Amino acid sequence: MLVAPSILSADFGNLANDIEEICNSGCDLVHVDVMDGHFVPNLTIGPVVVSAVAKATTKPLDIHLMVENNTFFVDLFAPLKPKYISFHIEEEKHPHRLVQYIRSLGIQPAIVLNPHTPIESVEFLLEDVDMVLLMSVNPGFGGQKFIPSVLERAKRLKVLIDKYNPNCLIEVDGGVNGENIYALKEAGVNVVVAGSYVFGNKKGYKFAIDSLKI
Ligand code: DX5
Ligand code: ZN
Repeated sequence: MLVAPSILSADFGNLANDIEEICNSGCDLVHVDVMDGHFVPNLTIGPVVVSAVAKATTKPLDIHLMVENNTFFVDLFAPLKPKYISFHIEEEKHPHRLVQYIRSLGIQPAIVLNPHTPIESVEFLLEDVDMVLLMSVNPGFGGQKFIPSVLERAKRLKVLIDKYNPNCLIEVDGGVNGENIYALKEAGVNVVVAGSYVFGNKKGYKFAIDSLKI
C-alpha cells in the first residue's frame, strides 16, 4: 500500500517541518488538496503555498483539484512538476481531452469520483489514466467519517482496471485509518490518502504511516 498524507491536516504554521517529517517517516506521496470555494464549500491553497510545499518535500506531489475550472488550475500547478494531477469527473465537460493535456505536460493524469458517481463513468478513460481516486467522504473537508460503500466501488473498479489497464492504480481519499486499511487492501486499493489519521495521530506520524503500509 502506498501512503499519501494529506497536508490539509498539517500545521500550516510549520508546514515545511511537517512535510519534512512525513517524508522522513516513509510516506510515498504528498497529497495536496486544492479547493476553490465553488466546486466545494472550502478554500485552501494556491501555487504560492504549493511551491513552498514542493521545495520542502523529498517525495512526489499528488495534487487533487476540487475546483470548477480544471484547465486553469492545471496550468497553475504544472510548473511545480507534480507526479499526479487529479480532477473530478463531475466538474469536467471534456475529461478525455484534459487527461491528454495533463499527460502532454509530463504529468500523470488521474480522475476523481465522488461517492455517488457511477464507476462506469470512467470505463472508457481507464486506458488513458494512471490512477483513479475514489472519494470515501464528500470532498471539501478533512476529518470526516469514512463511507464504507467505497469498498464495493473499489472492487467493481478493479474488474474494469484488469480489463482495460492493469497498471492503473486505485487511490482512496477520506476517513482512512489504521482499522479500515485492511478492508481497503482487500478491495484492491493501491494508494491511500490520510490527513487527520496521520497528522492527528497521538503516536506520531511514523506510527500512523507504518500502520497504513500493509
Ligand atoms: C477531502 C480531501 C482529503 C482530506 C482527507 O476533500 O480530499 O484529502 O484531506 O482527510 P482525512 O484523512 O482527515 O479524511
Ligand atoms: Zn484529497
